[in-house]
Amino acid sequence: MNIIVTSLKGGVGKSTSSIYLSAAGVERGYDPVTLIDADPQASSAEWLELWPLPGITVIEAPSERMATRAMGRVEGLGIVDTPPGNERITQSAVALADAVVIPTRAGGVEYSRVLATLDLIPTPVPRGIVICAARLGTNDLEAAIAWWKEQKVEIWGVIPERVGIAAGPEARLSREGLEGYDVVLSRALRGWR
Ligand SMILES: Nc1ncnc2c1ncn2[C@@H]1O[C@H](COP(=O)(O)OP(=O)(O)OP(=O)(O)O)[C@@H](O)[C@H]1O
Ligand SMILES: [Mg+2]
Repeated sequence: MNIIVTSLKGGVGKSTSSIYLSAAGVERGYDPVTLIDADPQASSAEWLELWPLPGITVIEAPSERMATRAMGRVEGLGIVDTPPGNERITQSAVALADAVVIPTRAGGVEYSRVLATLDLIPTPVPRGIVICAARLGTNDLEAAIAWWKEQKVEIWGVIPERVGIAAGPEARLSREGLEGYDVVLSRALRGWR
């Protein structure tokens, strides 16, 4: 089972989502959980080097070939972090995906890049967006949720903006983040209900 975390847009929460989804997978009892870091920036690999999480194995696979090969070898649960703006890696990874998670932010400028990302995913593959660093109770967030619903794009999660989630490898994973991403994982695993 490979879940790809991707967006053509940079800085939206792909690496953060990949780490939390992997940790949520461990908590759900998946063994082994493999985090494939297909981004040459290797942010999630570095994160787990600084703060290793029991049960997660990291594979650095910073090319299309390495990433697809690593995905073919996954046993248990594989979570794939991808680089921003790399259509080739994204396209080959989503072709092998069992589900695709697309992190995004609330706000109009995001929509076109997400729609372009959605266009790369083969029709039968389940996909959903995750609104990252969401400011709960704001009009922006409400508007974003309404817009995606209108587009019939599934929203698999809304992750609140939290210092504890932004802290990255400097701190322990946030309980609230783990709970939010557990919902995302359950939807990625079972499809939209
Ligand atoms: N729920 C959240 N609350 C607060 N900050 C967040 C949250 N999710 C992500 N961030 C912050 O947003 C920034 C971008 O996140 P991240 O590095 O995961 O994005 P990315 O899509 O992997 O970026 P890149 O395209 O550079 O690989 C980081 O500073 C991260 O800490
Ligand atoms: Mg990243």
